Amino acid sequence: VKDFWMLNNGVRIPCVGFGTWQTPDGETAVQAVKSALEAGYVHIDTAAAYDNEASVGRGIREAGVKREDLFVTSKLWNANRGYDKTMAAFEKTMKDLGLEYLDLYLIHWPAVANQFENWQELNLSTWRAFEQLYKDGRIRAIGLSNFMPHHMEPLMAEAKIRPMVNQIEFHPGQMQRETVEYCRQHDILVEAWSPLGTGRMLTNPTLQSIAGKYEKSVAQLCIRWCLQNEVLPLPKSVTPSRIRENAQVFDFKISRDDMEQINKMGYIGGSGLVPDEIDF
Ligand code: A2P
Repeated sequence: VKDFWMLNNGVRIPCVGFGTWQTPDGETAVQAVKSALEAGYVHIDTAAAYDNEASVGRGIREAGVKREDLFVTSKLWNANRGYDKTMAAFEKTMKDLGLEYLDLYLIHWPAVANQFENWQELNLSTWRAFEQLYKDGRIRAIGLSNFMPHHMEPLMAEAKIRPMVNQIEFHPGQMQRETVEYCRQHDILVEAWSPLGTGRMLTNPTLQSIAGKYEKSVAQLCIRWCLQNEVLPLPKSVTPSRIRENAQVFDFKISRDDMEQINKMGYIGGSGLVPDEIDF
């Protein structure tokens, strides 16, 4: 979990991050983050919309890890897009987390549906704010989340600073190949949210049988499979034993045949969230 990959601006990113979506605010989130930092994670992923940033910040402080040894990501919520709102939302996130700077800030969703008719303009003015915060040294890297190629294209056409990351739902049966290919072509690192399919991968017989061959759990198999696909996994758990388990993914390698078998699996469940339909 302390191995690093490199973003297109030269910033180093720890190649397994700790996810906090659906982690309840309060003591649960504080303890989860502390457990993760004790288990050796140095990369924490949160978002304003997770409603747990203050607790995540408390967990970081209570763990006593040096800020420069940590990589912290947050995300801007849909309704706060636009230059001025973005600036205000960023300050709120920093205040809640209790941090001086962020390592990575993402636009949470392209949010194109219904009340967001002017989404291209909104995303662009948001990106201008991100570029400014980046230039001001408040954020070390900037990026997107849940953007598909048709959401990225209009932004890429106008961006002065290109995104460094796109965080998408990615797990067996949900590989978003076109989006990943587009990101590869533009040197944008892909991160996987819900690498365990929000837990739905764990009972799949095919994955169970492959994991068994390596004497690993399905969770470890899915995380390792992300890494070998060069997609950065962000597993979430609030359970200390699972948090530790999910970090033990550097002592085995999935064979080429097994990678192929997992890569060709059809849809076997996931969050059910579709970028073009999100209207909140
Ligand atoms: P919990 O947080 O109660 O420990 P994803 O990262 O794909 O969103 O998946 C998160 C879900 O998977 C959570 O419900 C989490 O449960 C569960 N989970 C995480 N790691 C493991 C593991 N190693 N074994 C079993 N379940 C896990």
